[in-house]
Amino acid sequence: MDDLVVLFTTIGLSEQKAQETAKNKKLAPALASTIRASGLTDGIPDSTGKLLYRLASTVTPKASAHLEALAQTIGQGQLASNEQVDAAIKYCEAQADPLADRSAFDRACGIGVTVTDAEIENAIRTYFETNQERLVKDRYRALGPLLGGLKKVDALKWASPAKVKAEFDAQVLATIGPKDERDEVVKTKGKEGKKGAAAPASKGKNGPAAESTTPAANPDAIFFEGDISKLHRPGGNPQVNPRLIEEHLKATGGKVVTRFPPEPNGFLHIGHAKAINVNFGFAKAHDGVCYLRYDDTNPEAEEEQYFTSILETVKWLGFTPFQITYSSDNFQRLYELAIELIKRDKAYVCHCTGEEIKAHRGGEAKGPRSDCVHRSRPIAESLAEFQKMKDGRYGEGEAILRMKMNMQDGNPQFWDLVAYRVLNTPHHRTGSKWCIYPTYDYTHCLCDSFENITHSLCTTEFRQSRESYYWLCDALEVYKPVQWEYGRLNVTNTVLSKRKLLKLVQAGLVSGWDDPRLYTLPALRRRGVPPQAINQFVREVGITTSTSTIEVERLDNQTRAYLDEHAPRLMAVVKPLRITLTNVPADQVTQLTLPFKPRCPAMGEHTVPFSRDLFIDASDFRMEDAPDYFRLAKGKTVGLLHVPHPITCDEVECNEAGEPVHLQCRYLTDLPAGFKPKAYIQWVANCPTAGSPVAIDELRVYDRLFRHNNPLDKNEVPQGWLSDIDTNSLHRTQGALVEVGIWDAIRRWAETTPSLDLVENLRFQFIRIGYFALDKDSQLPAEAALQKADPKACAESAKLVFNRIVTLRESGKKEA
Ligand SMILES: *[C@@H]1O[C@H](CO)[C@@H](O)[C@H](O)[C@H]1NC(C)=O
Ligand SMILES: *[C@@H]1O[C@H](CO)[C@@H](O)[C@H](O)[C@H]1NC(C)=O
Ligand SMILES: *[C@@H]1O[C@H](CO)[C@@H](O)[C@H](O)[C@H]1NC(C)=O
Repeated sequence: MDDLVVLFTTIGLSEQKAQETAKNKKLAPALASTIRASGLTDGIPDSTGKLLYRLASTVTPKASAHLEALAQTIGQGQLASNEQVDAAIKYCEAQADPLADRSAFDRACGIGVTVTDAEIENAIRTYFETNQERLVKDRYRALGPLLGGLKKVDALKWASPAKVKAEFDAQVLATIGPKDERDEVVKTKGKEGKKGAAAPASKGKNGPAAESTTPAANPDAIFFEGDISKLHRPGGNPQVNPRLIEEHLKATGGKVVTRFPPEPNGFLHIGHAKAINVNFGFAKAHDGVCYLRYDDTNPEAEEEQYFTSILETVKWLGFTPFQITYSSDNFQRLYELAIELIKRDKAYVCHCTGEEIKAHRGGEAKGPRSDCVHRSRPIAESLAEFQKMKDGRYGEGEAILRMKMNMQDGNPQFWDLVAYRVLNTPHHRTGSKWCIYPTYDYTHCLCDSFENITHSLCTTEFRQSRESYYWLCDALEVYKPVQWEYGRLNVTNTVLSKRKLLKLVQAGLVSGWDDPRLYTLPALRRRGVPPQAINQFVREVGITTSTSTIEVERLDNQTRAYLDEHAPRLMAVVKPLRITLTNVPADQVTQLTLPFKPRCPAMGEHTVPFSRDLFIDASDFRMEDAPDYFRLAKGKTVGLLHVPHPITCDEVECNEAGEPVHLQCRYLTDLPAGFKPKAYIQWVANCPTAGSPVAIDELRVYDRLFRHNNPLDKNEVPQGWLSDIDTNSLHRTQGALVEVGIWDAIRRWAETTPSLDLVENLRFQFIRIGYFALDKDSQLPAEAALQKADPKACAESAKLVFNRIVTLRESGKKEA
């Protein structure tokens, strides 16, 4: 006891507190082992002591197995704040071996992340910019909720709380001054103000969270209508043995458990976005959990890149797996159950050739279905043969394990399905430990059972497998989930099958699996399509049981709707045409302040120079005027966006080919008040001293890769789907220009976005042109250049390659 008291005082507890703590039966042993495991002896700094105390006093039963490991990281100075300790505890709860993947642990707990003073200052400034109205209106009453809201700012997650608070206070003072009579608490009013003020913060509409959409209706509504709303509640699925459901409920606590089980043999596509939304969404709507399970039972097709890409894609869509599992983790258990299945006389080793198996399945020329000779061999013989299979004494195709189902059943899924086959291929995860591998039919339902899946949601191709799924669970007397099928999602004007995509890639018809003209999810991401738009698209289509081929324009529509709400506006010209405002002095530069989005102060503003020399888009000028034409021509007047007065064109200089290369124009400052030009065009200043214009290295504009709605339709496309490709569907343009405000936009994005975010999430509306995202071939400007808002250094260090995500309007092909 005395020893404990002494030990506890080493972390800065007072004598009295140490004595109290020593009497606490739960805390005392935890704290003692925490301090010992920290590896620190005497002279423990108070701040470290507090962290150790926090760890010992808040560790949850689920994480307690890792208490000592965590204490050690505190002792080494790695977990250095309360927030990090809390995050570490939380992380450990969900992991069997949290420190096995050290970099994942570090990321989850912010170890090694330093947030500079400048970053803190900038993040808080941005935060206040978006909350300015409220701060000015509610003044000191707004501070509580605003300080709370700051917790959600990702850029500050691992910043020193003391520094954040100090910077917050300093900026408050600079913005609204010290407290005065306006801040005196009027009792009744104060309460109201507090209530009103708290609401917006809790919605997280400020700061970086402004990225999230504000759906008009409950996004989970689709799970509470139609057939999917009629599914059983956990526990409502009958079992061959009632004991199974009792144990199941005990293990799950009655929660909904689903899984998304991709085979790691390809990249996910738009159809999988539905599977992801259905499985993760259904669980979430019912307050349940969803596993990501790699169905990795075919060693021949699996590659590391698919595992990585699948997880990245799921996260990109905004979903978090409850746990990541692998079917292969169950190889031993599956094997033991196979032996059990043989012992129950429900499986046998068969040596038929593929031909013979086909023949037994009967059919027109082959007569009625029949059992094979091995079906009736003794159990002991099958057991011995299965052992030989496992020992590698059979070559591929020489022996298989088949389930003894019912050859006379009308459902082909009952014709003695294969459970195990010999494959002499090392496995991605188990190496060459196994030379027999379980099939999908055998593995899938059992892994569902092991994970206590309540609702096994899959597409309608698996309708017939439902019965064999149930058969196997019942045959082995293991917990049996419920399978339910929904219609798969296809979109028009593309192909989605892995084989076809591979053909496109191998033939060099596209640049890779993520070519922005494809509808794999990595391709959509690269193109700049926001994940929110994809999710909204899937939910708008709904979860029916019929297969649907949806017009790809509907995805474009959702993309536009999202970008209209969220994309900053910038002026750009695709094909620059130089103009000179002859009546503006050469050294006159006016800084104009432009909103990133009109009528949306939360998105902020930026400045651009307006000067004598400008560029407009060549498409906004014509040599020949016409009565229904309202943009620029010789002698014609047009408005420049965001500029107070219009311009008129006096002279046109052409090159030898007769194309305009330079226009002499005048800035009309003395027109009668109320004069309004019929059209406004965008422009970019030619003002190198102000860093304008910014050169775009390349603009990439995409048309549909396939001309027909259904390239696979033999009537529409008699020459086959490959003949339907538009080989001219990618247009690259060099020489386009954008206003210097792009650097401000990138800086704002960088400040409010997690550092691991992707450049393709940096999306813009180029006014009157389209929506564009940075391609991954781009390079962001150097951080120092951005911070200093130095346009020249930005331009030097950056490479700007843009993909057009979508046109501004639906029938917008011409806008390119
Ligand atoms: C599933 O439930 C069984 C009891 O039926 C339990 O023993 C097992 O641990 C559970 N598995 C998981 C992964 O939750
Ligand atoms: C959906 O796509 C698959 C292949 O990508 C195709 O076989 C199937 O016919 C399509 N379904 C419909 C209804 O178009
Ligand atoms: C896209 O949206 C527009 C405007 O809301 C609508 O008129 C059009 O029918 C939509 N297109 C599709 C394919 O849903």
